[in-house]
Amino acid sequence: MKTLRLSNLSGSNWKSFHIRPEDEKTLGDFYNETEAKRYAASNSMRKIQEGLTLRAIELMQLPIGSTVIDAGCGAGFSTAILHEIGYNVLAFDALPIFVKLCKKNGFDAELGDIRKFPFKQTVDGIVSISVLQWVTAKEVDEASKVASEFWNHLKKGGKAVVQFYPTSENELLQVGRLFKNVGFKTTIVTDNPENARKRKIFLLLVK
Ligand SMILES: C[S@@+](CC[C@H](N)C(=O)[O-])C[C@H]1O[C@@H](n2cnc3c(N)ncnc32)[C@H](O)[C@@H]1O
Repeated sequence: MKTLRLSNLSGSNWKSFHIRPEDEKTLGDFYNETEAKRYAASNSMRKIQEGLTLRAIELMQLPIGSTVIDAGCGAGFSTAILHEIGYNVLAFDALPIFVKLCKKNGFDAELGDIRKFPFKQTVDGIVSISVLQWVTAKEVDEASKVASEFWNHLKKGGKAVVQFYPTSENELLQVGRLFKNVGFKTTIVTDNPENARKRKIFLLLVK
């Protein structure tokens, strides 16, 4: 694990050479009904999302019984883990097909965007797993809308973890700064930093 303070810009300066679906297709074009159902039925996707969500939970360190928003819930893999651990979960996703699949899996879910939550209340925690790159792929600065929305929906002392797939370390730092600019104490946590395939990036945000 490597943690990077935002003031320290001298990282390894990596770039990812993987082409992401986010760079080639719009969200709705990629996750058409067939692909969304394939994702929801995939054991390997479930395992990956569960692992990432457990890591986010470990980083957040919120007491059991806290209320946590799952921002971009997909078919509910992250939501299921949050429930199992003992959090009260509010879930939403930008695509109606995923809201439907999440409900089918037994969880309440709303239609909403990480730039415009469908909930009014402030909560103890927010997790967003493998979602943010759909917003930043077109325009990195769009993350500032996400940052404001996260800030407005967290109680004072609340925490959030955003796991996502930036294409370069510069992009990561740029996004990190946008969260810092709205007021978050922002820590970048990189698991497996030297292995491009296994590298996992989390922003830990404290209000
Ligand atoms: C790889 S899935 C991960 C979902 C979830 N973590 C899980 O456990 O399955 C990415 C999800 O992000 C959602 N998404 C993408 N952009 C979004 C946005 N702007 N607001 C809300 N959800 C979004 C997609 O619809 C998709 O369900």
